Amino acid sequence: MSNFIPVNVPLLNGNEKKYLLECIESGWVSSEGPFVKEFEDKFAAKVGRKFGVAVSSGTGALDAAVEALGIGPGDEVIMPTFTIISCICQIVRSGAKPVLVDSDPITWNMNVDQIEEKITSKTKAIMIVHIYGLPVDLDPVLEIADRFGLKVIEDAAEMHGQDYNGTPCGNFGDVSTFSFYPNKHITTGEGGMIVTDNEEVAENCRLLRNLYFEPAQRFVHRKLGWNLRITNMQAALGVAQLENLEKSVKKKREIGNLYNELLSDIENLQLPLVETDYAENIYWVYGVILKESISFDAKSAMSQLGQSGIGSRPFFCPMHLQPALINMGLFENEKYPTAENLYKRGFYLPSGLALTESEIVRVSESLRLLIES
Ligand SMILES: Cc1ncc(COP(=O)(O)O)c(C=O)c1O
Repeated sequence: MSNFIPVNVPLLNGNEKKYLLECIESGWVSSEGPFVKEFEDKFAAKVGRKFGVAVSSGTGALDAAVEALGIGPGDEVIMPTFTIISCICQIVRSGAKPVLVDSDPITWNMNVDQIEEKITSKTKAIMIVHIYGLPVDLDPVLEIADRFGLKVIEDAAEMHGQDYNGTPCGNFGDVSTFSFYPNKHITTGEGGMIVTDNEEVAENCRLLRNLYFEPAQRFVHRKLGWNLRITNMQAALGVAQLENLEKSVKKKREIGNLYNELLSDIENLQLPLVETDYAENIYWVYGVILKESISFDAKSAMSQLGQSGIGSRPFFCPMHLQPALINMGLFENEKYPTAENLYKRGFYLPSGLALTESEIVRVSESLRLLIES
């Protein structure tokens, strides 16, 4: 379909080509190339952290972060059920137990009021995940973590350029992680980053990224790691993209504001919250929720939009509904009604940085027709 509007088209209109050419002309294409360190240093500085470790995905960043904090058998980690599977993989694989909380129906983030009641003597960490454009209300979570002596992992995969009360996301807790998948404000094609102020955690992540190779005894391994290395070419893209972060966030807000303007009078549609008292939405993706009064669900709406040439994506399927986890005996009889409703009735519209005003108008008109007819 020639006039199809994809859910995401990235924007690569800065120094990407120039820096990539430098990689090719210099022959530095592997993870040993100079752009990797440059990207790590500049990215860490941007979020006010001492150390950055660039890896091959946001998922890999979370895997390494969980392992580097020493989470393992017998530990419990509190996390939202409404998130991507990446958050839970290493918790489960390490032998630790994920303990879930439901979502807030307005911000779509984890319900911070449910955290304290989930704490036991085995709780080792809280994993915070910022969802779709607004950060989690961090102060209460950090206060609980501090009071109970818990580690904090901040998954800021979707939050480049966002802040919480003026402090950049990625600056909270023991370790924070990012993704650079092409639908993110900064893309490296595939990629991720771990940032921390803790030198030991950073060093551990570096070793975990590279199969736990240690310079002193090459090919003798004290621990098992992964190959999570990022190439110099990906990091070159990252450096160029980082230069345009503020512009990208501005563009995302323009996209979000235009959707808000065009859709706000549709009564049966819940739109993203514009702001809280600690942050203004950056609309990483522009999500909508069909209210109860609408007889069809997100799946059916997305299929109808698809027939009108408009791409969309479902909201996350909560962790307690994941067959892979249920088959392991996890989350038996657990219910999280808000997350279930988000999954059933929520989806997101085209939100990529290359989206044009006329495309937003077309998407909005099609959505209105679908809901009001
Ligand atoms: C909240 C969150 N965490 C982790 C990830 C995983 O990142 P990646 O796709 O780079 O592995 C994503 C991806 O979109 C995400 O949204």
